[in-house]
Amino acid sequence: MRVLTGIQPSGALHLGNYFGAIKQMLDLQEKSDLFIFIANYHALTSLKDGKALKANTLDAAINFLSLGIDPNKATFWAQSDVKEVLELYWILSGYTPMGLLERAHSYKDKVSKGIAANHSLFSYPVLMAADILLYDSQIVPVGKDQIQHVEMTRDIAIKFNNDFGDILKLPEFKVDEDVATVPGLDGTKMSKSYGNTIDIFCTEKELKKATSKIVTDSTPMEEPKDFLTCNVYALAKLFLNSDELSALQDRYTKGGEGYGHFKAYLSGLIWSYFEEARAKRAYYTEHTDEVMDILQTGAHKAKRIAEEKMKMIRDVVGIYR
Ligand code: ADP
Ligand code: TRP
Repeated sequence: MRVLTGIQPSGALHLGNYFGAIKQMLDLQEKSDLFIFIANYHALTSLKDGKALKANTLDAAINFLSLGIDPNKATFWAQSDVKEVLELYWILSGYTPMGLLERAHSYKDKVSKGIAANHSLFSYPVLMAADILLYDSQIVPVGKDQIQHVEMTRDIAIKFNNDFGDILKLPEFKVDEDVATVPGLDGTKMSKSYGNTIDIFCTEKELKKATSKIVTDSTPMEEPKDFLTCNVYALAKLFLNSDELSALQDRYTKGGEGYGHFKAYLSGLIWSYFEEARAKRAYYTEHTDEVMDILQTGAHKAKRIAEEKMKMIRDVVGIYR
Protein backbone atom coordinates (compact mmCIF):
# COMPACT_ATOMS: atom_id res chain seq x y z
CA MET A 1 0.00 0.00 0.00
CA ARG A 2 1.65 3.26 -1.08
CA VAL A 3 1.02 6.06 1.37
CA LEU A 4 2.32 9.50 0.47
CA THR A 5 2.58 12.68 2.44
CA GLY A 6 4.27 16.04 2.00
CA ILE A 7 5.52 18.20 4.83
CA GLN A 8 5.93 21.94 4.65
CA PRO A 9 9.37 23.05 5.85
CA SER A 10 8.00 25.73 8.09
CA GLY A 11 10.37 26.08 11.01
CA ALA A 12 10.23 24.84 14.58
CA LEU A 13 7.99 21.84 15.33
CA HIS A 14 5.68 21.84 18.32
CA LEU A 15 3.85 19.22 20.37
CA GLY A 16 0.73 19.67 18.21
CA ASN A 17 2.71 18.72 15.11
CA TYR A 18 4.19 15.72 16.87
CA PHE A 19 1.04 14.22 18.38
CA GLY A 20 -1.21 15.43 15.55
CA ALA A 21 0.85 14.29 12.57
CA ILE A 22 4.41 13.03 13.05
CA LYS A 23 3.55 10.16 15.36
CA GLN A 24 1.10 8.82 12.77
CA MET A 25 3.86 8.95 10.14
CA LEU A 26 6.15 6.90 12.38
CA ASP A 27 3.39 4.37 12.68
CA LEU A 28 2.74 4.33 8.92
CA GLN A 29 6.36 3.69 8.04
CA GLU A 30 6.10 0.42 9.97
CA LYS A 31 3.07 -0.87 8.13
CA SER A 32 3.03 0.65 4.65
CA ASP A 33 5.23 1.78 1.77
CA LEU A 34 5.54 5.32 3.10
CA PHE A 35 6.66 8.08 0.73
CA ILE A 36 7.36 11.27 2.59
CA PHE A 37 8.89 14.41 1.14
CA ILE A 38 9.72 17.95 2.16
CA ALA A 39 7.42 20.18 0.13
CA ASN A 40 9.93 22.96 -0.59
CA TYR A 41 8.31 23.99 -3.89
CA HIS A 42 5.05 24.45 -2.02
CA ALA A 43 6.86 26.54 0.58
CA LEU A 44 7.85 29.01 -2.16
CA THR A 45 4.24 30.18 -2.26
CA SER A 46 4.66 31.81 1.13
CA LEU A 47 8.39 32.13 1.81
CA LYS A 48 10.32 34.58 -0.33
CA ASP A 49 13.59 34.43 1.55
CA GLY A 50 15.95 32.05 -0.24
CA LYS A 51 18.39 31.59 2.63
CA ALA A 52 15.57 30.86 5.04
CA LEU A 53 13.97 28.31 2.72
CA LYS A 54 17.26 26.46 2.26
CA ALA A 55 17.84 26.45 6.00
CA ASN A 56 14.25 25.36 6.71
CA THR A 57 14.49 22.51 4.22
CA LEU A 58 17.63 21.12 5.84
CA ASP A 59 16.15 21.72 9.26
CA ALA A 60 12.97 19.81 8.35
CA ALA A 61 15.08 16.89 7.13
CA ILE A 62 17.11 16.90 10.36
CA ASN A 63 13.99 17.18 12.52
CA PHE A 64 12.09 14.36 10.85
CA LEU A 65 15.09 12.03 10.88
CA SER A 66 15.70 12.87 14.54
CA LEU A 67 12.09 12.20 15.47
CA GLY A 68 12.24 8.75 13.91
CA ILE A 69 11.61 8.82 10.16
CA ASP A 70 13.78 5.90 9.12
CA PRO A 71 15.19 6.06 5.57
CA ASN A 72 15.44 2.27 5.56
CA LYS A 73 11.70 2.00 6.03
CA ALA A 74 10.32 5.11 4.32
CA THR A 75 11.32 6.85 1.09
CA PHE A 76 12.29 10.33 2.27
CA TRP A 77 13.36 13.13 -0.08
CA ALA A 78 13.11 16.82 -0.91
CA GLN A 79 10.39 17.60 -3.47
CA SER A 80 12.70 19.72 -5.64
CA ASP A 81 15.08 16.79 -6.20
CA VAL A 82 12.53 15.17 -8.49
CA LYS A 83 11.86 17.82 -11.15
CA GLU A 84 9.39 15.59 -12.98
CA VAL A 85 6.79 16.83 -10.53
CA LEU A 86 6.87 20.26 -12.20
CA GLU A 87 6.38 18.76 -15.64
CA LEU A 88 3.38 16.81 -14.43
CA TYR A 89 2.07 19.94 -12.71
CA TRP A 90 2.00 21.71 -16.07
CA ILE A 91 0.38 18.81 -17.88
CA LEU A 92 -2.28 18.48 -15.17
CA SER A 93 -2.99 22.22 -15.37
CA GLY A 94 -4.65 21.47 -18.68
CA TYR A 95 -7.09 19.19 -16.86
CA THR A 96 -7.86 21.60 -14.03
CA PRO A 97 -10.94 23.77 -14.55
CA MET A 98 -10.60 27.31 -13.22
CA GLY A 99 -13.80 26.82 -11.23
CA LEU A 100 -12.22 23.93 -9.32
CA LEU A 101 -9.33 26.11 -8.16
CA GLU A 102 -11.62 29.05 -7.43
CA ARG A 103 -13.52 26.89 -4.96
CA ALA A 104 -10.41 25.95 -2.96
CA HIS A 105 -10.88 26.88 0.72
CA SER A 106 -7.21 27.15 1.52
CA TYR A 107 -6.68 29.70 -1.28
CA LYS A 108 -9.72 31.74 -0.24
CA ASP A 109 -8.63 31.61 3.43
CA LYS A 110 -5.13 32.79 2.64
CA VAL A 111 -6.34 35.66 0.47
CA SER A 112 -8.89 36.70 3.08
CA LYS A 113 -6.04 36.86 5.62
CA GLY A 114 -4.37 39.45 3.41
CA ILE A 115 -1.82 37.20 1.69
CA ALA A 116 -1.28 38.54 -1.86
CA ALA A 117 -3.12 36.45 -4.44
CA ASN A 118 -0.47 35.19 -6.82
CA HIS A 119 -0.58 32.38 -9.33
CA SER A 120 1.44 29.85 -7.30
CA LEU A 121 -0.89 30.25 -4.35
CA PHE A 122 -3.83 29.72 -6.70
CA SER A 123 -2.38 26.71 -8.50
CA TYR A 124 -0.94 25.12 -5.33
CA PRO A 125 -3.51 22.26 -5.47
CA VAL A 126 -2.34 21.28 -8.98
CA LEU A 127 1.22 20.87 -7.73
CA MET A 128 -0.12 18.82 -4.84
CA ALA A 129 -2.07 16.68 -7.35
CA ALA A 130 1.18 16.15 -9.27
CA ASP A 131 2.94 15.07 -6.04
CA ILE A 132 0.28 12.51 -5.39
CA LEU A 133 -0.32 11.19 -8.92
CA LEU A 134 3.33 11.00 -9.98
CA TYR A 135 3.97 8.17 -7.51
CA ASP A 136 0.70 6.23 -7.92
CA SER A 137 -0.14 7.06 -4.30
CA GLN A 138 -3.08 5.14 -2.90
CA ILE A 139 -3.52 6.77 0.49
CA VAL A 140 -2.80 10.37 1.46
CA PRO A 141 -2.92 11.02 5.22
CA VAL A 142 -3.92 14.63 5.77
CA GLY A 143 -5.28 17.08 8.29
CA LYS A 144 -8.89 18.18 7.73
CA ASP A 145 -7.78 21.36 5.95
CA GLN A 146 -6.15 19.31 3.19
CA ILE A 147 -9.04 16.95 2.36
CA GLN A 148 -10.29 19.22 -0.40
CA HIS A 149 -6.90 19.13 -2.09
CA VAL A 150 -7.02 15.34 -2.31
CA GLU A 151 -10.56 15.53 -3.68
CA MET A 152 -9.33 17.99 -6.31
CA THR A 153 -6.54 15.56 -7.15
CA ARG A 154 -9.14 12.89 -7.83
CA ASP A 155 -11.18 15.28 -10.01
CA ILE A 156 -8.11 16.18 -12.04
CA ALA A 157 -7.10 12.52 -12.43
CA ILE A 158 -10.61 11.55 -13.55
CA LYS A 159 -10.57 14.25 -16.24
CA PHE A 160 -7.18 13.09 -17.44
CA ASN A 161 -8.20 9.43 -17.44
CA ASN A 162 -11.36 10.29 -19.39
CA ASP A 163 -9.14 11.29 -22.27
CA PHE A 164 -6.43 8.66 -21.98
CA GLY A 165 -7.71 5.63 -20.09
CA ASP A 166 -6.59 4.36 -16.69
CA ILE A 167 -3.23 6.11 -16.47
CA LEU A 168 -3.53 7.90 -13.15
CA LYS A 169 -4.39 6.13 -9.91
CA LEU A 170 -7.15 7.75 -7.88
CA PRO A 171 -5.93 8.41 -4.31
CA GLU A 172 -7.98 8.27 -1.11
CA PHE A 173 -7.45 10.71 1.72
CA LYS A 174 -7.11 9.43 5.26
CA VAL A 175 -7.99 11.61 8.21
CA ASP A 176 -7.18 10.25 11.61
CA GLU A 177 -10.34 10.93 13.59
CA ASP A 178 -8.77 9.58 16.80
CA VAL A 179 -6.16 12.28 16.88
CA ALA A 180 -7.19 14.88 19.40
CA THR A 181 -6.33 18.53 19.03
CA VAL A 182 -3.36 19.33 21.24
CA PRO A 183 -4.06 22.42 23.33
CA GLY A 184 -1.61 25.29 23.47
CA LEU A 185 -0.44 27.33 26.46
CA ASP A 186 -3.74 29.22 26.52
CA GLY A 187 -5.93 26.16 26.05
CA THR A 188 -6.84 26.90 22.42
CA LYS A 189 -5.41 24.76 19.58
CA MET A 190 -1.62 24.78 19.71
CA SER A 191 -0.45 26.56 16.57
CA LYS A 192 2.50 28.60 15.36
CA SER A 193 0.08 31.29 14.27
CA TYR A 194 -1.34 31.70 17.79
CA GLY A 195 2.06 31.97 19.50
CA ASN A 196 0.98 29.38 22.10
CA THR A 197 3.31 26.51 21.28
CA ILE A 198 5.67 24.27 23.18
CA ASP A 199 8.47 23.53 20.75
CA ILE A 200 9.93 20.04 20.64
CA PHE A 201 13.52 21.20 20.25
CA CYS A 202 13.66 24.15 22.61
CA THR A 203 16.23 24.32 25.41
CA GLU A 204 15.39 23.04 28.87
CA LYS A 205 15.20 26.60 30.13
CA GLU A 206 12.78 27.58 27.36
CA LEU A 207 10.71 24.50 28.07
CA LYS A 208 10.42 25.37 31.77
CA LYS A 209 9.47 28.91 30.84
CA ALA A 210 6.84 27.75 28.33
CA THR A 211 5.23 25.23 30.68
CA SER A 212 5.16 27.81 33.47
CA LYS A 213 2.98 29.97 31.21
CA ILE A 214 0.23 27.37 30.75
CA VAL A 215 -3.07 28.94 31.74
CA THR A 216 -4.76 27.33 34.77
CA ASP A 217 -7.54 28.34 37.14
CA SER A 218 -6.72 29.77 40.55
CA THR A 219 -7.67 26.91 42.85
CA PRO A 220 -5.46 27.31 45.94
CA MET A 221 -2.63 24.85 46.55
CA GLU A 222 -4.31 22.86 49.36
CA GLU A 223 -7.59 22.27 47.53
CA PRO A 224 -8.46 19.37 45.21
CA LYS A 225 -8.20 20.23 41.52
CA ASP A 226 -10.22 19.25 38.48
CA PHE A 227 -7.84 17.48 36.12
CA LEU A 228 -10.48 17.24 33.37
CA THR A 229 -10.47 20.97 32.77
CA CYS A 230 -6.75 21.47 33.32
CA ASN A 231 -4.50 22.33 30.34
CA VAL A 232 -1.44 20.99 32.14
CA TYR A 233 -3.13 17.62 32.61
CA ALA A 234 -4.33 17.57 28.96
CA LEU A 235 -0.72 17.90 27.84
CA ALA A 236 0.72 15.50 30.42
CA LYS A 237 -1.79 12.87 29.29
CA LEU A 238 -0.02 12.64 25.93
CA PHE A 239 3.06 11.23 27.62
CA LEU A 240 1.63 8.86 30.22
CA ASN A 241 0.50 5.25 30.35
CA SER A 242 -2.70 4.39 32.20
CA ASP A 243 -1.03 3.70 35.58
CA GLU A 244 0.90 6.94 35.45
CA LEU A 245 -2.25 8.74 34.43
CA SER A 246 -4.26 7.49 37.40
CA ALA A 247 -1.38 8.40 39.71
CA LEU A 248 -1.50 11.95 38.32
CA GLN A 249 -5.28 12.07 38.69
CA ASP A 250 -4.88 11.12 42.36
CA ARG A 251 -2.44 13.96 42.87
CA TYR A 252 -5.00 16.39 41.41
CA THR A 253 -7.93 15.14 43.47
CA LYS A 254 -5.96 14.87 46.72
CA GLY A 255 -5.01 18.54 46.81
CA GLY A 256 -1.90 19.80 48.55
CA GLU A 257 -0.01 20.49 45.34
CA GLY A 258 -0.13 23.67 43.29
CA TYR A 259 -0.21 24.02 39.53
CA GLY A 260 3.48 24.90 39.67
CA HIS A 261 4.21 21.31 40.75
CA PHE A 262 2.19 19.88 37.87
CA LYS A 263 3.85 22.23 35.41
CA ALA A 264 7.31 21.18 36.62
CA TYR A 265 6.25 17.53 36.30
CA LEU A 266 5.01 18.15 32.73
CA SER A 267 8.20 19.91 31.79
CA GLY A 268 10.19 16.88 33.02
CA LEU A 269 7.98 14.51 31.02
CA ILE A 270 8.46 16.45 27.80
CA TRP A 271 12.17 16.84 28.32
CA SER A 272 12.79 13.13 28.83
CA TYR A 273 10.39 12.02 26.09
CA PHE A 274 12.43 13.80 23.43
CA GLU A 275 15.84 12.98 24.85
CA GLU A 276 16.80 10.52 22.12
CA ALA A 277 15.45 12.82 19.39
CA ARG A 278 17.58 15.66 20.77
CA ALA A 279 20.70 13.51 20.71
CA LYS A 280 20.02 12.48 17.12
CA ARG A 281 19.39 16.08 16.17
CA ALA A 282 22.69 17.16 17.67
CA TYR A 283 24.37 14.40 15.64
CA TYR A 284 22.67 15.25 12.32
CA THR A 285 23.30 18.96 12.82
CA GLU A 286 27.02 18.12 12.98
CA HIS A 287 26.77 15.71 10.01
CA THR A 288 24.63 17.53 7.45
CA ASP A 289 26.44 15.69 4.62
CA GLU A 290 24.83 12.47 5.93
CA VAL A 291 21.45 14.17 5.90
CA MET A 292 22.02 15.25 2.29
CA ASP A 293 23.02 11.69 1.36
CA ILE A 294 19.84 10.33 2.90
CA LEU A 295 17.72 12.82 0.93
CA GLN A 296 19.63 11.95 -2.25
CA THR A 297 19.09 8.23 -1.80
CA GLY A 298 15.37 8.84 -1.26
CA ALA A 299 15.24 11.13 -4.30
CA HIS A 300 16.86 8.45 -6.49
CA LYS A 301 14.26 5.94 -5.49
CA ALA A 302 11.40 8.41 -6.01
CA LYS A 303 12.88 9.55 -9.32
CA ARG A 304 12.98 6.06 -10.77
CA ILE A 305 9.25 5.75 -10.20
CA ALA A 306 8.60 9.28 -11.43
CA GLU A 307 10.55 8.70 -14.65
CA GLU A 308 8.61 5.56 -15.48
CA LYS A 309 5.32 7.29 -14.84
CA MET A 310 6.28 10.35 -16.87
CA LYS A 311 7.25 8.21 -19.87
CA MET A 312 3.73 6.86 -19.94
CA ILE A 313 2.15 10.29 -19.43
CA ARG A 314 4.31 12.07 -22.01
CA ASP A 315 3.52 9.37 -24.49
CA VAL A 316 -0.26 9.68 -24.20
CA VAL A 317 -0.35 13.48 -24.16
CA GLY A 318 2.04 13.65 -27.11
CA ILE A 319 5.22 15.13 -25.70
CA TYR A 320 7.69 13.42 -27.99
CA ARG A 321 10.18 12.35 -25.29
P1 ADP B 1 0.54 25.25 12.73
O1 ADP B 1 -0.93 25.36 13.09
O2 ADP B 1 1.42 25.40 13.90
O3 ADP B 1 0.92 26.15 11.56
P2 ADP B 1 0.66 23.20 10.77
O4 ADP B 1 -0.58 23.72 10.11
O5 ADP B 1 1.97 23.42 10.08
O6 ADP B 1 0.74 23.76 12.24
O7 ADP B 1 0.45 21.65 11.08
C1 ADP B 1 1.19 20.60 10.53
C2 ADP B 1 0.53 19.31 10.97
O8 ADP B 1 0.44 19.22 12.40
C3 ADP B 1 -0.90 19.15 10.45
O9 ADP B 1 -1.07 17.82 10.02
C4 ADP B 1 -1.78 19.43 11.64
O10 ADP B 1 -2.96 18.69 11.57
C5 ADP B 1 -0.90 19.00 12.82
N1 ADP B 1 -1.20 19.88 13.97
C6 ADP B 1 -0.80 21.15 14.11
N2 ADP B 1 -1.22 21.66 15.30
C7 ADP B 1 -1.92 20.67 15.90
C8 ADP B 1 -2.62 20.57 17.16
N3 ADP B 1 -2.67 21.60 18.02
N4 ADP B 1 -3.23 19.42 17.46
C9 ADP B 1 -3.18 18.36 16.60
N5 ADP B 1 -2.53 18.39 15.41
C10 ADP B 1 -1.93 19.53 15.05
N1 TRP C 1 -0.23 20.89 1.24
C1 TRP C 1 0.31 20.11 2.31
C2 TRP C 1 0.32 20.97 3.60
O1 TRP C 1 0.25 22.17 3.53
C3 TRP C 1 1.71 19.66 2.00
C4 TRP C 1 1.74 18.81 0.77
C5 TRP C 1 2.28 19.13 -0.43
C6 TRP C 1 1.19 17.50 0.65
N2 TRP C 1 2.11 18.11 -1.31
C7 TRP C 1 1.45 17.10 -0.69
C8 TRP C 1 0.51 16.64 1.54
C9 TRP C 1 1.02 15.87 -1.16
C10 TRP C 1 0.09 15.40 1.06
C11 TRP C 1 0.35 15.02 -0.29
O2 TRP C 1 0.43 20.42 4.68
